[in-house]
Amino acid sequence: MRKFIIDTDTASDDAVALVMALQYPDIDVLAITTVAGNVPLKQGTQNALYTVELCGKDTPVYAGCAKPILRNLSTAENVHGNDGMGDIGLPLNGRIPADGHGVDILREVINANANDITLITLGPLTNVAVALLREPELAQKVSHCYIMGGIGSGHGNITPGAEFNVWVDPEAAKIVFESGMPITMVGWDISWKYATFNKAESDDIRQIGTPLAEFVVDIQATLDEYAKAESGLAGFDLPDPITVAIAIDPSIGEFKQYHVDVTTGDGLARGLTMVDILGATGKDAQISVCTSADRKKFIEQLKASVRA
Ligand code: BDR
Ligand code: CA
Repeated sequence: MRKFIIDTDTASDDAVALVMALQYPDIDVLAITTVAGNVPLKQGTQNALYTVELCGKDTPVYAGCAKPILRNLSTAENVHGNDGMGDIGLPLNGRIPADGHGVDILREVINANANDITLITLGPLTNVAVALLREPELAQKVSHCYIMGGIGSGHGNITPGAEFNVWVDPEAAKIVFESGMPITMVGWDISWKYATFNKAESDDIRQIGTPLAEFVVDIQATLDEYAKAESGLAGFDLPDPITVAIAIDPSIGEFKQYHVDVTTGDGLARGLTMVDILGATGKDAQISVCTSADRKKFIEQLKASVRA
């Protein structure tokens, strides 16, 4: 079994990503840690707990940081719904997270599985950055870290140039990107290009007919409206799921090694991931940037995960 740990600000696309990892045959998700982002920490933790329960798993969910390192929290209920899960009436309360702080659990699980653990981040990088500040050597103990965040090329989704997860806590992102951890960045450009679902395509998944198939589509209700009205897409897109798909099967992506610099300023520069394609900075090309993805393979993996 391959060992994963997933850090998430669980909202509608994160939940699908969790389903894909939890349902995949040879993946053991040792822990899920939650972080504030799309929704406040408590809501995201409830959403993760509900998703784990729906999958019939007992994967522990630990709550982590409730706000970014230096900044106030900015959430995205306008994108994912007030409950983060499309406001379709799911009972997203009353479940109890496991004992322990997400940051401590990241450290414990990585240390206990040194060089044999894949870390996937689906939200702002606050938890991972705080863990690295406390214990910088963690960077060398993670076999690989797949980050849904940033922009590989093109436009942003929260400002003209920035992606939400990096923009929410850019200081955390900078700490993680410069930590020396082996990182693959799956930017939002990969999502809108290869993981957008129009009505016919989402119907095709929903008609598989299992509770999980209906769940992964129905919770995108708010995102679907937002994507059409604000992002110029044909329907909802799934950034976190395509990141998990690539972590599970790296042959889904194509990658190039570049230096990536995170801008921690304010205004329109906040949260930019500057990809140094021509090596202008002369700095170490420390990040593997996903440059394209195999949409067909991604959708096959997604469908397989909801058939059970
Ligand atoms: C990222 O931000 C959130 O809205 C999604 O869950 C995803 O992690 C996309 O920019
Ligand atoms: Ca997310």
